[in-house]
Amino acid sequence: MNTLVDGAIVIDARGSIQLINPAGESIFGYAAKEVIGRNITCLMPEPYHSEHDGYLDRYLKTGEAKIIGIGREVEGQRSNGEIFPMSLAVGEMGHQDSTLFVGIIRDLTEERRRETEFDELQARHFHLSRVAAMNEMGTAIAHEINQPLAAAANYIETGKILCTRLDEGGEKLGSVLERALEQNNRAAEIIARMRKFIERGDVSSETVDLDEIIEASVMLSLSRFRDTQIDIIRDINPNASQVFGDGVQIQQVLVNLIRNGCEAMTDSAHKQLHISVDSDAEHPNLACVSLSDTGTGLSQDIIPDLFTAFTSTKTGGLGVGLSISQSIVRAHGGRIWATSNPSGGSTFSFTLPLADDA
Ligand SMILES: Nc1ncnc2c1ncn2[C@@H]1O[C@H](COP(=O)(O)OP(=O)(O)OP(=O)(O)O)[C@@H](O)[C@H]1O
Ligand SMILES: [Mg+2]
Repeated sequence: MNTLVDGAIVIDARGSIQLINPAGESIFGYAAKEVIGRNITCLMPEPYHSEHDGYLDRYLKTGEAKIIGIGREVEGQRSNGEIFPMSLAVGEMGHQDSTLFVGIIRDLTEERRRETEFDELQARHFHLSRVAAMNEMGTAIAHEINQPLAAAANYIETGKILCTRLDEGGEKLGSVLERALEQNNRAAEIIARMRKFIERGDVSSETVDLDEIIEASVMLSLSRFRDTQIDIIRDINPNASQVFGDGVQIQQVLVNLIRNGCEAMTDSAHKQLHISVDSDAEHPNLACVSLSDTGTGLSQDIIPDLFTAFTSTKTGGLGVGLSISQSIVRAHGGRIWATSNPSGGSTFSFTLPLADDA
């Protein structure tokens, strides 16, 4: 006991301390003579403190063990009042006619501190990588786009006033302008959220209906392909359609992927986009959204950098769609990946936490 690295304490069946080794003395900050004869609860914070006597009694009567023979992570209290995490393994031993318990204690303070440090480092790294992907764009976009959006809002407002002076059709035009204004404000809201996303790295959390969001995203994306006949097939498992996250951001991801799919099918004879939602095969607490197109398929040389910002094979492409989508999906705790379809075209899939597990 004297040479053990871990703390060791022996108590009797009433919880009275019989023995504490030097490592135990230094962990708890007591000299042996200060604690020998006292109840073991003097080394425990609440609620262990109050529960412990009952616990020993119950164990001796019923044999029902919570720590004895099992080992657990609990909290201890040092002489200066400091509460600290420790691992505790307790063994039972017979001694003459009575029962004694020996507890082996390892102070986990240092280990926990390192873990917290590591977590913080990881969070910071994650944040930085997200910022790296978006920083180049974020500020510029927010600034450059907010101004024309504000100007457009002004023009639309003015148009609405002018409508009231029209003799004919003013009401109808007014309601059209109202809708234009709504869309305009929506764009401004998206920008504001994107900025918040870069700055704070968090996402607003609400239960989001994928069915609804997919519908809205399809409408938003297809307006650009109005003259093209594209078959959209939806295959949504209602048990996997409620996810937890930021609706506007999830919509951003879907719009990016739907647009990419449609753009890839420009020259395809048969244009079909299959959007499916199901629970993830490997992780039942995640929903998996897949978009499968009949387009050109992924070109070999772009695959390694597919999700890297500013990677594009399109003449007018910025190459940020997939990198932004990846940042958003990851911030939601999901992942995004692409595969080539055996029959041509490609499939982009991403996962999101199901609302039930939120
Ligand atoms: N469905 C798809 N089929 C084939 N290739 C695709 C598909 N989706 C993406 N790609 C490839 O990945 C590249 C990157 O896509 P990403 O959305 O990031 O940028 P982009 O579409 O080129 O430009 P933008 O920033 O305007 O969206 C595309 O240029 C294209 O080569
Ligand atoms: Mg794109």
